Amino acid sequence: MRMVDIIIKKRNGEKLSREEIEFLIDKYLENEIPDYQMSALLMAIYFRGMDDEETTILTEKMANTGKIIDLSEIEGIKIDKHSTGGVGDKTTLVFAPLISAYGFPIAKMSGRSLGHTGGTIDKLESIPGFRTNLTLEEVINQVKKIGISIVGQTENLVPADKKIYALRDVTGTVDSIPLIASSIMSKKIAGGSDIIVLDVKVGKGAFIESIDKAEKLATLMVNIGRRLGKKISVVISNMDEPLGNTVGNSLEVIEAIETLKGYGPSDLKELVINLGVQAVLLSGKEKDEEKIRRDLENLIKNGSALKKFRDLIVAQGGNDEVIDNYKLFPQAKIQKEIFSREEGYITKMDAYLIAKSVMALGAGRDKKDDVIDLSVGIKIHKKLGDKVEKNEPIVTFFANDSSKLSIAQEIFKNAYKIGKDRIDKRLILKIIK
Ligand code: URA
Repeated sequence: MRMVDIIIKKRNGEKLSREEIEFLIDKYLENEIPDYQMSALLMAIYFRGMDDEETTILTEKMANTGKIIDLSEIEGIKIDKHSTGGVGDKTTLVFAPLISAYGFPIAKMSGRSLGHTGGTIDKLESIPGFRTNLTLEEVINQVKKIGISIVGQTENLVPADKKIYALRDVTGTVDSIPLIASSIMSKKIAGGSDIIVLDVKVGKGAFIESIDKAEKLATLMVNIGRRLGKKISVVISNMDEPLGNTVGNSLEVIEAIETLKGYGPSDLKELVINLGVQAVLLSGKEKDEEKIRRDLENLIKNGSALKKFRDLIVAQGGNDEVIDNYKLFPQAKIQKEIFSREEGYITKMDAYLIAKSVMALGAGRDKKDDVIDLSVGIKIHKKLGDKVEKNEPIVTFFANDSSKLSIAQEIFKNAYKIGKDRIDKRLILKIIK
């Protein structure tokens, strides 16, 4: 078999066989296929696509290039959740303790920030002492004991995805539906849970901007999951504006804690509850959606979900006093409010530009090894559709460096608009199961 023949076949729009897909992944990982040939194939896939069967084979093969985690020692139905990447997306920090409080064990593996999108692992590292690099044995023991763990991806979890993702990042082939689907689903298959709920983000701050494309991706991932024996549902949610009122690592953890205390922003809560409802429905434990919703809300009201978060922090070596004293989080030296010059309604709060602005403050990475500033970010006081009076604060910047703050403010100028008419918005766009 020759890689060039596989490239030509895909370039001509033909379907690749299992043998061809397995060959190209094996040989690429063994460095026998060079990056330039893999890049050509990725671009051919970008333009020609792959059908469900090809994408499933690719997913399965990629998952098997590393360790498939065995969670069978943990009793109960194991639930996993994944987001395709967004801005201000602290959903996992609320979802995981909530679903664990409901009674499902969760051994969640999360990522770091990618491009303009944030990562749960970076956020958790703003809790002093919190360890994100547990061994698999530690994860299993912890989940058996307290029902929850959140850790970074282990080194040998889907090595094929690590290598191919890095190449996609620099060859303009990230936003291909079969490549995104196989990248995400291979990690979910390798993660070893029984049930997967996916949060596909669509809009200005997401990797996918059109609802059509989001639906295609969601349907494909559901098909792959089913073919590979997983129970799976997808919630498609809007990412035109950031989720919640904060963007930036420690600010987002504080907002997640507020949500677990029952005071969080309504959009974050709505998304978490919708994902939770889908997870419980898939488990078959309860069929009445309204009852599930009420039960989940009660677990927030009665403090059970917050207690799980505390257990998680303590078990992973963090200082749980942060829950009652937010001053223990890394603190930014400068706070700067931006005031409205006119009266009206917020008609634009662009998630991508806000992410760029927060990155300019130092909250993200331009290169893999960049050190991020966990204390900086933005607090949004007015969201899409909100009424704003003249001289009311729209956002507050949290910064450590005045020149970075000036750049961030400059970017932010184009991120929002105030208009005469109130616009409608919808967070949950579709559920695919
Ligand atoms: N998240 C992933 O893990 N992979 C992609 O390709 C896109 C988002």
